[in-house]
Amino acid sequence: MITFSDGSFAPINDYLQRKKPTKIFFLVDENTHSSCLPVLLPELVTEVPYEILEISAGEEMKTLETTAQLWEILSEFGADRHSLLINLGGGVVSDLGGFIASTFKRGFPFINIPTSLLGMVDASIGGKTGVDLNFYKNLIGTFALPEQICLYPQFLKTLTYIELRSGFAEMLKHGIVASREHWNKLSSTGVLSVESIAPYIKDSADIKQSIVDQDFRETGIRKILNFGHTVGHAIESYFLKIGKPVPHGEAVAAGMICEAQLAREVCGLHSGEVTEIVTTIDRFYPRLSISEIPMATLIHTMQQDKKNIGSAINFSLPEAIGKCRYNVCADETAVVKALEYYISGR
Ligand SMILES: NC(=O)c1ccc[n+]([C@@H]2O[C@H](COP(=O)([O-])OP(=O)(O)OC[C@H]3O[C@@H](n4cnc5c(N)ncnc54)[C@H](O)[C@@H]3O)[C@@H](O)[C@H]2O)c1
Ligand SMILES: [Zn+2]
Repeated sequence: MITFSDGSFAPINDYLQRKKPTKIFFLVDENTHSSCLPVLLPELVTEVPYEILEISAGEEMKTLETTAQLWEILSEFGADRHSLLINLGGGVVSDLGGFIASTFKRGFPFINIPTSLLGMVDASIGGKTGVDLNFYKNLIGTFALPEQICLYPQFLKTLTYIELRSGFAEMLKHGIVASREHWNKLSSTGVLSVESIAPYIKDSADIKQSIVDQDFRETGIRKILNFGHTVGHAIESYFLKIGKPVPHGEAVAAGMICEAQLAREVCGLHSGEVTEIVTTIDRFYPRLSISEIPMATLIHTMQQDKKNIGSAINFSLPEAIGKCRYNVCADETAVVKALEYYISGR
């Protein structure tokens, strides 16, 4: 259940009243500990004792080592299957926390309170939890649903602009793959700010939830959420490997430009809609210097993807804004052409 808060956390308080957990654990990172926990704690009406588990900020913490440390701390503090974990943070906290809660003593309940935009519209929703293994992202994980997802956009006030813009790419994606109406609202946004996008956060979260509801295990329609991510991931991993990481959303924004171009070639996406997608993304995101990446490296990374059949690369591509296909194969020539289009800066 996704709830939207304009300041009160009534659904969580109702939950605490009804379920009476034996103990509450808050998982935070150093930033959400200082910026978000002091906002949340006074709003919770409960006598239940609590502990705060803090991790350092960053993807580097999403490991089995951190998991093991947190399992041990939970054990020391006497966590049981009637405890409650509240994940207060971005996608790192909800992925890690969901994984810990779904495995400790074979699972105990958790609530996600996402504090980053990416967390609110994407990571906290859909039941995928997990950690990275040796630089392979999300290799270990579970499917486990939170008891509640509570969206409180005011938390975004302390988020950096770069992180806000990164999450916004996933909102744009939701419009392109599933809702023309959502896309229209987002693409007419002038300056990107918490105030300008807050009214559309719940809509974006609902779009993701409704897609997940149709295909929890991602055997079909849930794949449309991968639009922009085939090229985006290849770009993201290259820059990560050379020690110049780019925010996930910026790589996805670049990926969406390339894949929109590809969609024109292989899915009949109308040229006017390609232009609409490209000009909107260009308005918010600088073009990345992907010309410095050897084309063969990008293609090779995309071909490694386990979703492919043979050497053709598997994509999720829109046939119109608001309507997306999945399991669309494109050959190398078409993909190279789409990347060259991006590099040309058109
Ligand atoms: N499970 C899924 O379906 C799913 C989907 C998409 C992404 N993810 C995962 O999500 C992670 C990325 O999420 P993210 O971008 O939120 O990263 P993140 O959790 O690292 O947060 C980004 C940064 O923002 C800070 N931050 C968060 N909220 C803040 C606030 N309100 N004020 C100030 N600072 C704040 C964090 O401390 C961190 O430094 C990745 O690990 C990715 O794999 C998971
Ligand atoms: Zn993404």
